[in-house]
Amino acid sequence: MDIKNKINRKISVAPMMDCTDRHDRFFLRLMSKNVMLYTEMVATKSAIHGDRKKILSYSPEEKPLALQVGGSDKEELSEVAKIAEDMGYDEININLGCPSKKVQKNMFGACLMKEPDLVAECINEMVNSCKIPVTAKTRIGFDNEERFEYLNNFIHKMRDAGTKTFILHARKAMLTGLSPKQNLNIPKLNYNMVYEIKKQNPELEIIINGGISKIDEINKHLNHCDGVMIGRSIYQNPYSLVEIEKEIFNTEVNPTREQVAEQLLEYVGKEVKLGTKVNHIMRHTVGLYHGQKGSKEWKRYLSDNLMARESDFQKTKHIMTIVQNNEKANQANT
Ligand SMILES: Cc1cc2nc3c(=O)[nH]c(=O)nc-3n(C[C@H](O)[C@H](O)[C@H](O)COP(=O)(O)O)c2cc1C
Repeated sequence: MDIKNKINRKISVAPMMDCTDRHDRFFLRLMSKNVMLYTEMVATKSAIHGDRKKILSYSPEEKPLALQVGGSDKEELSEVAKIAEDMGYDEININLGCPSKKVQKNMFGACLMKEPDLVAECINEMVNSCKIPVTAKTRIGFDNEERFEYLNNFIHKMRDAGTKTFILHARKAMLTGLSPKQNLNIPKLNYNMVYEIKKQNPELEIIINGGISKIDEINKHLNHCDGVMIGRSIYQNPYSLVEIEKEIFNTEVNPTREQVAEQLLEYVGKEVKLGTKVNHIMRHTVGLYHGQKGSKEWKRYLSDNLMARESDFQKTKHIMTIVQNNEKANQANT
């Protein structure tokens, strides 16, 4: 079977800087075997010249996993595509959607929507240097450029260069005047534009992204697109992945929060021995009890004991007491 057909992108967790690092992905994987995971964006120069073990290593449990790269130098991008393949990543994704000033200064992210020919050349080089799928994540427009024809032509150029999978964040990027955070909220969502791209390009895999969290919303989008990518709502409420497993993938046996915490602590134990700081892992678990009884106690314990720079591994032992109390309180509640 063609490797490109093997990846299931029905649901994926969005790449998020400072959030979806390897520890967070390991934690998310404890709750979902079926979602596709993405790294935070890694600049080509860091991937090539940086401490590769630190920047690019991952646990095998995280797979299937895509490396997201930021860059616009075709040689560098093709080198990173090869590195990604050699390191066992399942996909390499190019970031064409980040509007931050720093990213623009380095000529990657959303400003590349202005340069469709350059993007096509970069993709072509990447496709020729590896066998894993090369995918693109972009916005539906930028600044005053919001025409369907522009986006469709941009996608066609990338398709002709060898990309078959597109993740479309359904709002435009404002390259000036808005902060990165505002750029995730202020430009209006336009899901219909993404649906229309899929309708006019049925042969392409179109993944929709932006402002999606509930199961009924996911199901609605899946009627129009091939997949849904979710970012902030999963980071804030990671256990919602279990609902996704049940409702979207029909997974019958799913872990309780208690089982997730137990397995994560085992991982923390192993990682601490390798030199990882407890807070680098536990900071991702703040939302484990989102919307549940005991959520406040959980957050308080983490912030008082486990999220400080020098947090103590011994203190993770007390976590299971909080978890068990929370389980009881929530069971009594149902
Ligand atoms: C903290 C944070 C960091 C992000 N970092 C990246 C990134 O590295 N690469 C990227 O393509 N998008 C990044 N994004 C954008 C997300 O991938 C996603 O497109 C956006 O949050 C919209 O999806 P959502 O509404 O489901 O969160 C980031 C978003 C947030 C909130």
